[in-house]
Amino acid sequence: MVGSVAVIGAGVMGASIAAHVANAGVPVMLLDIVKPGAASRNAVAAGAIERLKKMDPAPLMGSRAVKLITPGNIEDDLQHLADCDWIIEAVVERLDVKQDLYRKLNAVRKPSAVISSNTSTIPLHELTAGLPDDFAKSFCITHFFNPPRYMRLLEIVGAEDQKFEAVKTFADEKLGKTVVHCNDTPGFIANRIGTYWIQCSLVLAQELGLEVEEADAVLGKPLGFPSTGIFGLMDLVGIDLAPHINASMGRLLAKDDAFHTMNRDSQVIEKLIAEGYTGNKGKGGFYRRSKSADGKREKLALNLPQAVTGQLAWRPAVKPDIPLLKDARKDLKKLLGSDSKYGKYAWGVLGRVLAYTASLVPEIASDIADIDAAMRLGYTWKFGPFELIDRLGAEWVVAHLSELGIAVPPLLKLVGSGTFYQAKGAELQQVSAEGGYKPIRRAPGILVLDDIKRVQKPLLGNKGASVWDLGDGVLCFEIHAQVRGSMLNMLDGDILTVLEKALALTQQKYKALVLYNDDLREAPHKTNFSTGANIGMAHMMANIRLWGKIENSIKEGQKLYLAMRYASFPVVAAPAGRALGGGCEMLLHCSAVQAYAESYIGLVEAGVGLVPGWGGCATMLTRWQHDKRMPKGPMPAVAKVFEIVSTATVSRSAAEAKELKFLSEGDGITMNRDRLLADAKAKALALVANYQKPEPLPLRLPGPAGLVALRMAVDGFHKRGIALDHDVTVSTALAEVLSGGATDYLDEMSETDVMALERTKFMALIRTKESQARIKSIIDTGKPLRN
Ligand code: NAI
Repeated sequence: MVGSVAVIGAGVMGASIAAHVANAGVPVMLLDIVKPGAASRNAVAAGAIERLKKMDPAPLMGSRAVKLITPGNIEDDLQHLADCDWIIEAVVERLDVKQDLYRKLNAVRKPSAVISSNTSTIPLHELTAGLPDDFAKSFCITHFFNPPRYMRLLEIVGAEDQKFEAVKTFADEKLGKTVVHCNDTPGFIANRIGTYWIQCSLVLAQELGLEVEEADAVLGKPLGFPSTGIFGLMDLVGIDLAPHINASMGRLLAKDDAFHTMNRDSQVIEKLIAEGYTGNKGKGGFYRRSKSADGKREKLALNLPQAVTGQLAWRPAVKPDIPLLKDARKDLKKLLGSDSKYGKYAWGVLGRVLAYTASLVPEIASDIADIDAAMRLGYTWKFGPFELIDRLGAEWVVAHLSELGIAVPPLLKLVGSGTFYQAKGAELQQVSAEGGYKPIRRAPGILVLDDIKRVQKPLLGNKGASVWDLGDGVLCFEIHAQVRGSMLNMLDGDILTVLEKALALTQQKYKALVLYNDDLREAPHKTNFSTGANIGMAHMMANIRLWGKIENSIKEGQKLYLAMRYASFPVVAAPAGRALGGGCEMLLHCSAVQAYAESYIGLVEAGVGLVPGWGGCATMLTRWQHDKRMPKGPMPAVAKVFEIVSTATVSRSAAEAKELKFLSEGDGITMNRDRLLADAKAKALALVANYQKPEPLPLRLPGPAGLVALRMAVDGFHKRGIALDHDVTVSTALAEVLSGGATDYLDEMSETDVMALERTKFMALIRTKESQARIKSIIDTGKPLRN
């Protein structure tokens, strides 16, 4: 078991890795050098910890984590590492510096401790060369991706021995990483393929005379590569890193490696670096922001064709109009087979990358599923290279490689007209490098809904939601409602009908219900448990003044959520990504929640000019008022909920959702996305024995006096220009709900009384043209309107 960790090197990676260990609730020491002349000997590490608190995206998941990181320095504190189970080295990428440190670490570590390096480019055998045997036996490479909290990949090299099991389990279960074993080859898996992919994209864009926006549009969404495209990605990562990485790959790779054919000096990159355009961290790169003549900030794009031969010049960025891309979603081959420069670019890059990847098995790894996972989780590709080949058909890929003058790699020949993956019953299988298929083994504690779907028909369902049998008497209610290609999972009548039926079915024949949906191909920040009630529908009904229908949908929603809450069996929600508005209220009514660590939960109704209508106010008031740590009296709980809901606060993690009480203290947090469903099922089963439905808790609310106090606060914000006119109307309506209407603090109120107030105020607000304008803005632009 790993109980204490140290990270050496408090730079970009080390500090963020330490933050993520702290996110897992484990104490961690963070050491760096002693900076000459600094006031404190720990100044470098302590400064890095301070920066962690301000970084965006946040490396820390909640306010408690940072307290677990202890700063130190390598001159005074190495002896404190004697108790550490895992020491992670993340110092500068220099072999001499790393090895010097290893010698010192080896002298202080306990025999069972593992030391690992975060190196991106130095081979394992070079790192351990000349060091004692016992060091080498306790050493491996653990390669995190930046930013470590959000990138789910961890590449591990040289950790086959039993000694490393505890570290691997810790990385998986506590740090939430998908651990992928790589061979000791340059760039391991993801950077080996990723660097080649970037180089192909750069070189071919220049050869074909493409503009950066064109290249990014072709290579981004249609192929499932990051939506930034390549040039946007290079700006994000840092253009100045490219020459170092390429030089190191150039030095380490065999002479006949295809990388060399694409590793051509890029004068554009050199010019950009020479003029200080290193990307988003500096003054911009391929894209930059600038003030236009009329003082507005505008996005500029580098004139790439000109930059290849002449000087650097930027012009206003444009959205390229490429009709071919519109069809690519449905038929990718139409784009790849097109004779236009866009088709040549798309296939020129993709064909090379797919062939290169196939040629690297088993050199970099023998498991193709690991290679796909590495590219999905390390480079946020929607599909791994072998999954892409299966989508196109291996035969099609082989037939078209000749256009690029590329020899067909043996692995592609081996697959022939078959596929790299196949399903055999519930089991998913992958091609093995030796031929034939081998199973993709799911580790214990991993339950994949897709595996279940392969062998089951849904017990219930429609286009918005389905119900599956998870076994052991547990059902799974899954929402799958797309809006314009995105799984926004907005709640509508269809979905709620399935939920109602799922509750009835569980009551009849099963023990528990889990609310969960899979969107494993998306990055955490893009996935949605549910983004709330379908406001498009509400807007449509408001337009034709179907007020009765809207009110009825609020009533029905409240009734259904209460039925879920007071069911005689446990209902456990397992959110990942966003759970907003009605999606958040769904969680608030469950018996328990098992949330993915990257859950972004909030009651955001104020943003669209409304108040929560499905019990969000009532449940939050109950949670805050019945928290023993809250000061007594009429106002504290009310003021707290008012602050959270009126500002449409969304938690930036599940840990923060607990601080805001969108999650209860007893709710669980799962760090590894792949483990969420199994954890939720286990939680539901644990609740089944002796399950007692909850007792309704009474509320005491301040009534009109409380409303006056909240109104004063709102007026203050209005005077200072923080709250706009309609914010005052919405906040006042919210204050009326939360203060309990005409009640008196001495009288008890029930949650259903508060829910009646929610309904009244919701209906009053949705009738206003200002709230309707806010709703329309979200529907049309995705952006909130301030009015
Ligand atoms: P960085 O330059 O941001 O930080 C390096 C830190 O090491 C500095 O704070 C420096 O003061 C410290 N340091 C130097 N010598 C030291 C010593 N003898 N003892 C203790 N601390 C010392 O570098 P970065 O980017 O954090 O990289 C660290 C390691 O992680 C490198 O091996 C790099 O290849 C690898 N890596 C970097 C990634 C990235 O995106 N930056 C991604 C994955 C791996």
